[in-house]
Formats: sequence, structure tokens, C-alpha cells
Amino acid sequence: MQAVVLVGGEGTRLRPLTYSVPKPMAPLLGRPFIGWIIERLRRAGVDEIILSCCYLPEAIEAHFGDGRDVGVQLHYVFEEEPLGTAGAIKNALHKVKGTIFVCNGDILTGVDLVMLRDAHHRRNAIATIHTRAVDDPSQFGVVETDSDGRVLRFVEKPKAGETNARDINAGTYVLEPEALDAIPTGQKVSIERETFPALIAQTHRVFAVSTADYWIDVGRPATYVQAHRDILDGTFEHPIGSEVSKGVWSASGTSLPAGVKANPPVYVGEQVSLDPGACIGPYTVLYERCKISRDAVIANSILWSDCFVGHGSSVRDAILGLEVVVEPQAVVEGAILGRDERVTASNA
Ligand code: GTP
Repeated sequence: MQAVVLVGGEGTRLRPLTYSVPKPMAPLLGRPFIGWIIERLRRAGVDEIILSCCYLPEAIEAHFGDGRDVGVQLHYVFEEEPLGTAGAIKNALHKVKGTIFVCNGDILTGVDLVMLRDAHHRRNAIATIHTRAVDDPSQFGVVETDSDGRVLRFVEKPKAGETNARDINAGTYVLEPEALDAIPTGQKVSIERETFPALIAQTHRVFAVSTADYWIDVGRPATYVQAHRDILDGTFEHPIGSEVSKGVWSASGTSLPAGVKANPPVYVGEQVSLDPGACIGPYTVLYERCKISRDAVIANSILWSDCFVGHGSSVRDAILGLEVVVEPQAVVEGAILGRDERVTASNA
């Protein structure tokens, strides 16, 4: 089976991190975020994935290539201008041979894709939408169904009293290619706002499958951090790497150097250097080649590759993008820093 993964958005809510790295390539414990989606699709029997790219596509293609390292065949389709979620799928359709999975490239979920596809075929659906109940659906697209799961109405970001439904569009679909027949090629079209409402009205063959599986949209700083926490806590699948001591995960499998204090849970990537006296954790993730100097304290923070933290510095509740430098004795608290930013003791 084939899948189309939408990876073309600008990821504005994760700026400044996404100025240099497209959201699907944001690291998540051992692999770029879309590596988790690709792996889940592969395990569900998908052998061909079409990545629908627009913003910073070269970073994605340079990393994944033809997909041989991740066990699937990867194809790339490109948009000059963003075509929106349905326009992007339409743009990929020339590579599609039959029923497809479609995944938003920013959703981490444990939904059973095989179950979703079987439900789709059993109901002879034109589109099947994975949905999930949330307490407050006001920021999401709400999906109203009848008792058979047939979708009756889509309500985008409902106001109070507009709907009693709590199931939101969870961003994973099974689609028949003909679901996109009515869409003009090369035009910006939203699947949530335009395509699904039209299909509901015209075909009555749009269904939803609501599950209580783990689900998070990693597209905001708070949820990106939460996804790390959920994996470190074991709420979602565990990260790649070895647990070298209770709650201390190491990509290389090596124990932390003597004199380093770790408050679990922590994750340490390949070739990270930790000087004696450094204190890391809890909920601290250090990606490849970060250098943490003596007596530095890092807590509740995610440091992307090649960051440097000087001696005696403190980094708390922060996300540091690639190659950020925190000079000695500086303090970073509650910040999101973009690539190459530099924090000195005085301007921190
Ligand atoms: P924000 O700017 O922070 O809202 O993020 P985003 O640009 O990723 O938008 P959003 O979260 O709404 O997108 C949902 C999914 O669709 C993400 O996986 C995006 O990469 C993808 N996406 C959104 N718009 C487009 C588009 O025009 N083309 C393609 N190929 N993908 C898109």
C-alpha cells in the first residue's frame, strides 16, 4: 500500500526553530520527527511513501534519500507555492495507484493503521478520518458523525454551543483517489475546510473512526516538548538507544562520564560531551555533539545538535536550535532560540 505524507508546511508556530529546519525534520529522540511516521507506516505494510514537500524540501530529501535506510521506497513531489492540504495530495496523485493513507507530517500517534484501512474497506468509504475525543475542541476541526460513524458535518474551530461533538480530526486518513477528483490541479485547497465538507454532502461516504490512542500534534513548542516527555516517560513508545541507568537513555549506549549528575529522565545523543560537574535533567534531551561544560545546569530543556553550554551556565525550560552558544555563566530560561544564536552572561 502507498501513503502520502504532508510535509510542506512552514511550521510558523515552531519559529525560530523552523527558520532553518522544516518541522518534519525536527529531532525527536533518535530520529527526525517524520521518521516516526515513516516507521509506523512501514509497520502497517506500507512500502511506498510519497512525501509532499514545499518548505525547505532539500533538508528532507538529503536525509531520507530514496528511503532504503528506513525500509520503504520514498518519492518526493514538490510545490512551487503551498497548495494547502488537499491541493498537496492532488499534486501527488500521479504517483498513486489505489487506496492511500494520508498523514499530516506533524502528528505522533499510536493509532492502528491496519484497523483504519480495514474499517475503510468494510464500509466502502471514499474517505475515512481518524478522530479522537478531546476535552476542548475549540482549536480543532470537529467531526460530527451518526451512530454508524458516517460523517455528518465538519465544524472548524467551533465556538461555544456550535456543536456537542468532541471528536476532532486527528490528521490521518484513508482515501480513495477519486475523493480528489473534483479538485482542480495546481490550486490551493484545504482538505479540512473544502474537500471533506463537499464529499460529505455529495457522496455520504465519508466515515470516521474514533480511537483513544496516544495522539499529539507536535507543531507547537509546548506539544513538541510534551512529545519528548511522553516518550521519555514511556507513555508513548520508547526512544532508540539504551537505558544506561534508570531513566538515562543514551543513543550510543555508553554511560555518562564520572562526575556528571543526571536527574532522570534524560536522553543523550551521539558524541555528546559532558564535563564533570555538569548537571542534566530532568526531562533534558541533548542531541548530537552538544558540549556541556563543567558546572552547567540543564533542566526541562531540549538542545538540538552542536549546541555549546559554557561552564556555570544554566538552561531551563528552553529549546535551543542548532549550534546555539550559551557562554559561561549565562542564564537561559523559558526561551526558544534559533540556529546560531548566542547568549552571553549579560544579555541572557
Ligand atoms: P503552522 O504554520 O505552525 O500552522 O504549521 P504548518 O505550516 O505545518 O501547518 P499545519 O500544522 O496546519 O499543517 C498540517 C500538516 O500539513 C503539516 O504536516 C504540514 O507540513 C502540511 N501542510 C500544510 N500546508 C501544506 C501545503 O500547502 N503543502 C504541503 N505539501 N503540506 C502542507
